[in-house]
Amino acid sequence: MLRPFLKWAGGKYRLVGRIRAKLPAGSRLIEPFMGSGAVFLNVDYDAYLLADINADLMGMYQTLQVRGAEFIAYCRTFFTPETNTSERYYALRDEFNTTRDSWHKSALFLYLNRHGYNGLVRYSKIGFNVPFGRYTRPYFPEREMGYFAERAQQATFVCADFRTVMGQAQLGDVVYCDPPYVPLSTTANFTGYAASGFTQDDQRDLVILAKALGEKGIPVLISNHQSEFTETAYQAADVEQFKVQRFISCDGANRNAVGEVLALFGGPGQ
Ligand SMILES: C[S@@+](CC[C@H](N)C(=O)[O-])C[C@H]1O[C@@H](n2cnc3c(N)ncnc32)[C@H](O)[C@@H]1O
Repeated sequence: MLRPFLKWAGGKYRLVGRIRAKLPAGSRLIEPFMGSGAVFLNVDYDAYLLADINADLMGMYQTLQVRGAEFIAYCRTFFTPETNTSERYYALRDEFNTTRDSWHKSALFLYLNRHGYNGLVRYSKIGFNVPFGRYTRPYFPEREMGYFAERAQQATFVCADFRTVMGQAQLGDVVYCDPPYVPLSTTANFTGYAASGFTQDDQRDLVILAKALGEKGIPVLISNHQSEFTETAYQAADVEQFKVQRFISCDGANRNAVGEVLALFGGPGQ
């Protein structure tokens, strides 16, 4: 199994086996919520359309796709004892937030991902604002970037909203959607806004699009937490549920088993 080279919240590396087993065959895989690409790296299609709303992420993938080994070597220069200090981290974070050079920005994105707190990706008005992570020796994912760059030759990377990307699906495509999770505590007092910026309206739009593509014969598999919302919204789909052990907070006592859902719209026999 190939590991993504980024740390990514909601990354599906550990669930790839289940996801792969439920993904129908097809000629091209579309991932509108690509993140770290755990699924893309571990499935077998002729071509891939990979998208995410995060422009820094997609810009970095495009740089790696085109410049390969040269880019990996440049990234390595940011993984030294000198660059692993709080002072240098904040200086490089400022550079990331102000530079217009996509080559430099791409390398800094990887640097921030591996040196910032918990691999978080969070932005405010000043731009990327994650604090220094204080790791003894951040891992440079050279091998993982190499594999990724190789597979990236079959892929097209775009920065776009999922609605645009799903609008491009054609017969023969298979779509895997891994949106930001429906918050676990959404019930009566849910206001419609999730901390991730992905609203319940977004979750609803995704289901509408998945149903419409499924009816046209283009299968769409959606991952999510099990919740009241998914129970009703995914009723028309072929649904598989299972438990996943997950750290909900840094406090080890709060380790919970969370219900995970895989909902297939427009699968074989539907
Ligand atoms: C749960 S993560 C995907 C994780 C991915 N499957 C992996 O294994 O790393 C959700 C992703 O959706 C992206 N996203 C959030 N809102 C979006 C939108 N409106 N359209 C497209 N992507 C979006 C986020 O940037 C994030 O990378």
